[in-house]
Amino acid sequence: MECSTQEQINKKLATFLIEQKASIVEKWLEHVLLPQNDPFYEEVKKNGYQTILELINYLETGSLDRLNKLTNKMATERIEAKADIGDFVHNINIGRSVVYELLMCSLLNEHEKGKGVLMMQRYFDHLLYLSVKDYTALKDSIIEKKNQFIQEMHHDRLTMLGQIAASFAHEFRNPLTSVKGFIYLLQRELEKTEQSDHYFDIIKNEMQSLEEKITQFLYLSKMRGLEDKLVHVPIKTLIEEMIEFMYPRFTETNIIIHADLDEEVMIEGDSSQIKQVLLNILVNAVEELSEWNGERKIEVKLRRMEDKAELSICNNGNPIPDYLLENVFEPFVTTKSLGTGLGLSVCKQIVEKHNGTIEVSSEEDITCFTIMFPTL
Ligand SMILES: Nc1ncnc2c1ncn2[C@@H]1O[C@H](COP(=O)(O)OP(=O)(O)OP(=O)(O)O)[C@@H](O)[C@H]1O
Ligand SMILES: [Mg+2]
Repeated sequence: MECSTQEQINKKLATFLIEQKASIVEKWLEHVLLPQNDPFYEEVKKNGYQTILELINYLETGSLDRLNKLTNKMATERIEAKADIGDFVHNINIGRSVVYELLMCSLLNEHEKGKGVLMMQRYFDHLLYLSVKDYTALKDSIIEKKNQFIQEMHHDRLTMLGQIAASFAHEFRNPLTSVKGFIYLLQRELEKTEQSDHYFDIIKNEMQSLEEKITQFLYLSKMRGLEDKLVHVPIKTLIEEMIEFMYPRFTETNIIIHADLDEEVMIEGDSSQIKQVLLNILVNAVEELSEWNGERKIEVKLRRMEDKAELSICNNGNPIPDYLLENVFEPFVTTKSLGTGLGLSVCKQIVEKHNGTIEVSSEEDITCFTIMFPTL
């Protein structure tokens, strides 16, 4: 028996499919899985026909190039109809089985059937591949849009919360200033005793810590911008001042402080805000080290680079747990029973207002905060 060429087989197969397409689609529709009240039911039928027409085109031209138009349409409709991807794949495979069964019952000989099945499998494999790819890409882009929306909403709410906190903090400030003034007057008026001096010291310390907390809140809000007092800030001098300021706390906690500072570096900004950044990071290091039983060390390094200053503050002790590392710069993230979780978010905001960057790394025995500032 003389074997037909692939071209002849493709032609026979195409003719067979043209004759059979109505019954293929009808049979296929009996088995497909569709959502109840599928709004695209009529389109599903049309897609069934188009699937057979594309198979015929493949047999006639050998090209699968235009198949993605159909898969894209099907994927879009399945997503809008909220159809499950499993059902979508199932329906395509049902199409494959229906065509296969009919092909087996056709008048083609065994050799022709074998070759025909191969072509048909290749076609359905590609159809399935493109359909799943389109469906997943569309689903991903929907999820991404939703995430973006949630993030924006979250951000708006945080901003609002920040504004509320800021206006509260602002309102606390004035009464606090007048209370401070009257305490000062009272202390002058009252007869001095050892006991009263002690009480006044406590009151002043508490007032100061309250003031510091309020200042942190205000840094977080937009109420304190950079615009007001831009000056040339000598970073090295500021670091030295802050280390001196913190020195009693370092000795009290048995911390060895090591400063490795290059020559002076000038940046443009607000020196009290930069001091706040140094203070917050150093205070965190002290707080962390006071829980540490081994040797306690803090190292501050300042390096001048081409047009940047790199400042790093590192301490040993317990590392920041992995789950926290990504979020330490978010407001209200804290592991301390009395912490507000504002310190590092204030740092980030200040550094970014100075066009700088701040990063954290924390490994087994060392935690480092690295800040880059553009230099003058
Ligand atoms: N040097 C450090 N070593 C280990 N963990 C740290 C260090 N610095 C910060 N952390 C972790 O990051 C968290 C957030 O720090 P952040 O300064 O923002 O808030 P806080 O210190 O908890 O409270 P606040 O500074 O507002 O009083 C801390 O609770 C701590 O778990
Ligand atoms: Mg802190």
